Amino acid sequence: MPDNTNKIIIAIDGHSSCGKSTVAKAIAQKLNYIFIDSGAMYRAVTLYCLRHNLINNGIVNIPELRANLGKIKVSFSFNDKTNHNDIWLNGENVEQEIRLLTVSQNVSPVAAVAEVRHLLVALQQEMGKSKGIVMDGRDIGTVVFPEAELKLFMTAQPDVRAKRRFDELTAKGERVSYDEIKANIIGRDRYDETRDESPLRKADDAIIMDNSYMTREEQLEWILNRVVGI
Ligand code: CDP
Repeated sequence: MPDNTNKIIIAIDGHSSCGKSTVAKAIAQKLNYIFIDSGAMYRAVTLYCLRHNLINNGIVNIPELRANLGKIKVSFSFNDKTNHNDIWLNGENVEQEIRLLTVSQNVSPVAAVAEVRHLLVALQQEMGKSKGIVMDGRDIGTVVFPEAELKLFMTAQPDVRAKRRFDELTAKGERVSYDEIKANIIGRDRYDETRDESPLRKADDAIIMDNSYMTREEQLEWILNRVVGI
């Protein structure tokens, strides 16, 4: 039996494109924990919906999606080349494709479907059973791991977030405009915060971190200082 006595669960929630996954991955590496990007799971289900015409103009065909849920298998597999836990959809590595702006533009309505959430939350809870995990998303500290020992709520100014995501996508060669990126992150935040099922909100016991003017190193240190205090 592995000794998990000192291992904790770190739950990171917050607004779109504020660098949650980047900092979560760095913490996991430092602590030798598992890192799970729960947003990648919602993105993979969205990719399935786009490929199977289950979403059109932002409207999800909920009865069809429900009927197809049993056919959607989402999992993670560690990629030695990139040192990253890649997401797989039905036996295919979709780590790159799920980051496309079209997926970002359709993910929030898919993530608002109760049955999608129940399926993915159950998988996420299973992954955290042995603790030693850093998971980022929108409902990690409120729904997935309400008992997490450390909860963070990350945010940054919308312009800073839009610039970061714009730089990230253009560096990969995607042709996108700054304005459409900014509209997407603001629109997604609003959608995620106002949905009925597990809306994005700060857990009462979460610590807020605004990283608008923090470097990645400062963010890492800020969080690690809080882990030490537990
Ligand atoms: O990377 P970014 O912050 O832009 O988004 P993400 O973490 O990849 O999440 C994409 C979308 O999935 C969010 O806008 C939410 O609609 C949804 N999501 C969710 O509902 N619950 C989670 N735990 C994670 C993501």
